Amino acid sequence: MVPREVKIAPSILSADFARLGEQVRDAEAAGADWIHVDVMDGHFVPNLTFGPPVIQSIRSHCKLPFDVHLMIERPELSIPEYVKAGADRVTVHVETCPHLHRTLQQIRELGAKTGVTLNPATPVEALDAILGEVDLVLVMSVNPGFGGQSYISGSTGRIAALRRRIDALGSKAELEVDGGVNAKTVREIIGAGATVLVIGSALFNDRAPIAANVSSIRKLIER
Ligand code: DX5
Ligand code: ZN
Repeated sequence: MVPREVKIAPSILSADFARLGEQVRDAEAAGADWIHVDVMDGHFVPNLTFGPPVIQSIRSHCKLPFDVHLMIERPELSIPEYVKAGADRVTVHVETCPHLHRTLQQIRELGAKTGVTLNPATPVEALDAILGEVDLVLVMSVNPGFGGQSYISGSTGRIAALRRRIDALGSKAELEVDGGVNAKTVREIIGAGATVLVIGSALFNDRAPIAANVSSIRKLIER
């Protein structure tokens, strides 16, 4: 396999919400590459997190790109607010976008990088028509809504299938994986061709500071 640079994107869903500014600063100091921001609306997914004002308030606390994952219905109505708040990348779910091509165009015209994702039960073929024009494909390896869930083993085949499709198109799109990424699953995930790892509970936890957790994952990536 061709060695690829693999990025680490800590998910602030597992951070201490009372100290979010400090937590993103710690993630940057720990050597993270992006900050993954999980936006949930309590409708598309059974959990509710935060929106543009909170994102804007933490934006000045670190310089890393904000990778905003919209788990919300009708994302096209609020995408401009997310970009204005500081989203560098916006990822939408194929399940929430009947006009996916138009929504991706909207993100691009606002000056952000485009991303598309799919739930574990959505066939990867759902992305075929737009794969050649997105900056990022996100494979959900848990059912979206909560941190700390177990990696769904069938996700590895889906990552590999999308890697083959992206390469066949000669695309440079990032292949990101979200859910259950930890020391046990990371080798299998990068072996299947992922280039960005979203990691929540395995980075923000009481067992060790985020710097130690990032460095253990980094060692496993480079092994
Ligand atoms: C789940 C979110 C994830 C979540 C991952 O719906 O999209 O980004 O934070 O958490 P872990 O790494 O704990 O599985
Ligand atoms: Zn996410």
